[in-house]
Amino acid sequence: MTINKYLSSDEIRDSFLNYFVKKKHITHPSSSLIPANDPTLLLTNSGMAQFKSYFSGESKPPKPRITTSQKCFRSTDIDEVGDNTHLTLFEMLGNFSFGDYFKEEACKWGLELLINEFGLEENRIFATVHSDDSEAKKIWLNLGMPEHKIFSFDDNWWGPAGLEGPCGPCSELHYYTGDLLPNDYKSASKNKSWGPNVSDEFLELYNLVFTQFYHHLDGRKTELPKKNIDTGMGLERLTSVIQQVDSCYDTDLFTEIIEKIENLSGIQWKKSKSSDKAIIIIAEHVRSATFLIGDGVIPENTGRGYILRRIIRRAMRYGMTLKIKAPFMGLIAEEVIRKMGHHYSELIENKPFILKVLEVEETKFSSTLQQGNTLLKTLIKDRNLIQEKFDQINKNLIKIISKENFKDKELFDLFEKSKIGPESLISNLINKAIDLEKHIAKEKNDQLKLLIKNITKLNWKNNISGFEVAYLYDTLGFPAEVTSEIAEESNLKIDLDEFNNIMEKLKLRAKSSSQFKGDLSLQRLFEEMGISETTFQGHNNLKTDSLVIGILKNDKPTKKANSGDEIKIILNQTPFYPEGGGQV
Ligand code: GLY
Repeated sequence: MTINKYLSSDEIRDSFLNYFVKKKHITHPSSSLIPANDPTLLLTNSGMAQFKSYFSGESKPPKPRITTSQKCFRSTDIDEVGDNTHLTLFEMLGNFSFGDYFKEEACKWGLELLINEFGLEENRIFATVHSDDSEAKKIWLNLGMPEHKIFSFDDNWWGPAGLEGPCGPCSELHYYTGDLLPNDYKSASKNKSWGPNVSDEFLELYNLVFTQFYHHLDGRKTELPKKNIDTGMGLERLTSVIQQVDSCYDTDLFTEIIEKIENLSGIQWKKSKSSDKAIIIIAEHVRSATFLIGDGVIPENTGRGYILRRIIRRAMRYGMTLKIKAPFMGLIAEEVIRKMGHHYSELIENKPFILKVLEVEETKFSSTLQQGNTLLKTLIKDRNLIQEKFDQINKNLIKIISKENFKDKELFDLFEKSKIGPESLISNLINKAIDLEKHIAKEKNDQLKLLIKNITKLNWKNNISGFEVAYLYDTLGFPAEVTSEIAEESNLKIDLDEFNNIMEKLKLRAKSSSQFKGDLSLQRLFEEMGISETTFQGHNNLKTDSLVIGILKNDKPTKKANSGDEIKIILNQTPFYPEGGGQV
């Protein structure tokens, strides 16, 4: 594979923009990663996102031709980051026509740009088109592309970005990196597993969208008033092709960032597969976090803030595997800002804020990470032991719940006595789960039976249960994704369904507790005392005779009380209406 010239990533970005300026486009700055006025989109995910209203005709663009380098974030790929190809944050180079030029110019310029400006071998450039788009196919043929290098697909379609917006059929340019010679392409193309989209030897570089439709929130598609062009080409991938390296992490976009991680960890890039994975995750996530914070996103438990929190925490956890001393992210973020700040000036303007937010989040999560990590490692080490304990008690458990009117206390005691998990953690977690179930379930005993039956069936040896994942998350703030990754390193799976189930129940309880101020430990105490409920008489009488059916002293049951003692009494019936704050 030969490329006619070496270009730095800065030169590639500039060349792209300048090429389209020569074609009468104006350059437009990247918009923020936080989409303006678009509630259907969490983070800007494409070059066209900031131009939706120009495409739809709602507002008028400053010029009908615009070109940009847009920062984009795609959160669907967070867990994939760590290999050679995935990124969450990338720069999208794009040229746009709002009711001006259409397919013919877009295709012609796209091909010319790749060959003449970027020096790619024409032989290696292939195209895909939408199966119904004979017009696009004809254009490629006219531009000299042989028919066997044009592949048709039903799903060559792009958009909308978010739940509604412009969209249309697309045509992509792919780059072939394999060893076949052009003379062999024709016969190779007869093989269904060779070609763009189906074999790894082809890299999708440039996506040309022929934006003709508007996809509405209700699923309807209508024709746009004018035909438009929306294109996207990821700078990172293009740079890796032009610089002839294996991945975007080997391009100059990441050189200084990775060098910084090498310095901090004392571990060299390309030394081992596992340390490379950690280096990639740290490099990529700190870069994304720097951009997100630069645009005003701060770590939170929902929405964009949660995405930011997730990537910061994931990077920290991999920092720990490389034994990098926290807080370290600010030091890497400074490299990101040095490398990218000249094009994205908000990084320089907001540098103190970016560094502060990273430091605060890192410091906050640091002890949690240590604590959670140590606990999880112990839980992983103890899998066989935990399974053995369950094997021992499962018969008793089934016996208890097969009784018509079993006492919860028997269950509680059994778990407590069995001391399952490090410092009985699992026993305690299951007892908490029983409490939770009783608090929110309607058919209390049936639900409890189901819960216990499920527990007896769990494969504790090969799985980390939902109870453990929920504890790590809810009590220690240790994200489920991190638990899953650590578990996977020991070939264990986490029970995500049960985790989600428990989180739902915790939410329900939080809701009902805030309404009723229920106190679980008190409720359990009443049950142990054999007290079920106090009958309300106030609808009919404001006076009733009652029996004292329980006495509590310091919240412990007692049989008698002496004059002057401060106690609580429980009555079998009462006309008092239990209102928050108490009745006068
Ligand atoms: N809007 C075109 C793309 O993102 O590929």
